[in-house]
Amino acid sequence: MTDQDVFAAEREQIFDHSWLYIGHETELVKPNDYATRTVAGRPLIFARDAKGKTRVWVNSCPHRGAMLCRDPKGNARFLTCFYHGWTFNTSGEPVSIPSEEGYSPDFERIGLAAPAKVDSYRGFVFVSFDPDIVDLPTYLAGATEYLDLVSDQSEVGMRVLPGTHEYSVKANWKLLAENSYDGYHLVSTHQRYLEMITAAHGKIDVSAGSAGARAINLGGGHAVIAATPASGALFGRPLSEAAKSEKAERFQRFREMYGDAWVDRMGGSRNMVIFPNLVVIDLVMGVVIRRIEPVSPDYMEVSAWHLAPPEEGEELHKQRLDNFLTFWGPGGLASPDDVEALETCQRSYAARGELPWSDISRGMHTPLKSVGGEYQMRTWWGRWHELITGEALPEEPQAPLEDFFAGQRSPKQTSETVQAK
Ligand code: FES
Repeated sequence: MTDQDVFAAEREQIFDHSWLYIGHETELVKPNDYATRTVAGRPLIFARDAKGKTRVWVNSCPHRGAMLCRDPKGNARFLTCFYHGWTFNTSGEPVSIPSEEGYSPDFERIGLAAPAKVDSYRGFVFVSFDPDIVDLPTYLAGATEYLDLVSDQSEVGMRVLPGTHEYSVKANWKLLAENSYDGYHLVSTHQRYLEMITAAHGKIDVSAGSAGARAINLGGGHAVIAATPASGALFGRPLSEAAKSEKAERFQRFREMYGDAWVDRMGGSRNMVIFPNLVVIDLVMGVVIRRIEPVSPDYMEVSAWHLAPPEEGEELHKQRLDNFLTFWGPGGLASPDDVEALETCQRSYAARGELPWSDISRGMHTPLKSVGGEYQMRTWWGRWHELITGEALPEEPQAPLEDFFAGQRSPKQTSETVQAK
């Protein structure tokens, strides 16, 4: 959590050999839209080219390295480097070099550099700097099923809403990976949020949050804490009867498309961490995509977007935005509490000579992995340990999935047919 050498090893042994999330395809609406992102310390351009294809370029001019795009987002047919004026199109091709006659006759124009691999799953775009990495679906392993559960919640395709939550935390990046699916801290850390929800609902049963819920190892270091609709209902403000019935009607149409077992699962909640640094949280009141960017051993930057079905009515949409702000927002009623918890951990690690270890053993004694345990974190740390030390730890036994969490789409719709849409 504090060591610069460990941080360097994480960059080389984890981030240089993983699939890393850069953005969602729906953020790039029109041809030539672009957004600039930093992924594993590299400045990148996430773009849609003139023909509509999603592209990722290194945000550095191939002449002498100046940053090509310095705006967070925009739309441009041509990207011109401000240093000496080399210009490229959004397909990465050089289109003009000022005073080109100064170069030798056999000089070949250089195009934009790119990460070794770019691929997407259900609109989630990932890059990898490792040309030999396994294909993206293999890497995502069981996480694909949970991305499907999130992505199937719209008849026209889930879309990222305009706007990004951006904040930083003076703490090690691994602490936020742990915190993002830590069911144990809810009652003690988020009292203020629960008080607000209690006031809105009259009374809530916090213990319902752990009944009908469990932690699941998805393979590859990915894990989720998932819950039934009853336990997920703990979150969010109450809806009007009209909004409830609008949502129920939409889910009824999903039942005809996907079958009951799948739609029952869709109606539940899930906090997933895709190793190493992508968090997808779907807590009934909204879907958050959170990307953690490690900057130094004691500092991270966080970006979060909201994924929504564009066809939903005004009240549901307003509720969604309200939840995004009041629970997840950097100035909301939950995220600042988490940031404070993480930053105090980091400050306290100054006493690591006296207290060298954290404990994540909760729930190790039983194969029934509850959301209040720390199995999901051990899954993540097992993969971290393997990549950093080369040692694969024995897998911890987990009980077979209950029927609810094993429900699949009806045979009419497979993952491939839906993705092809
Ligand atoms: Fe970009 Fe020279 S560094 S044109």
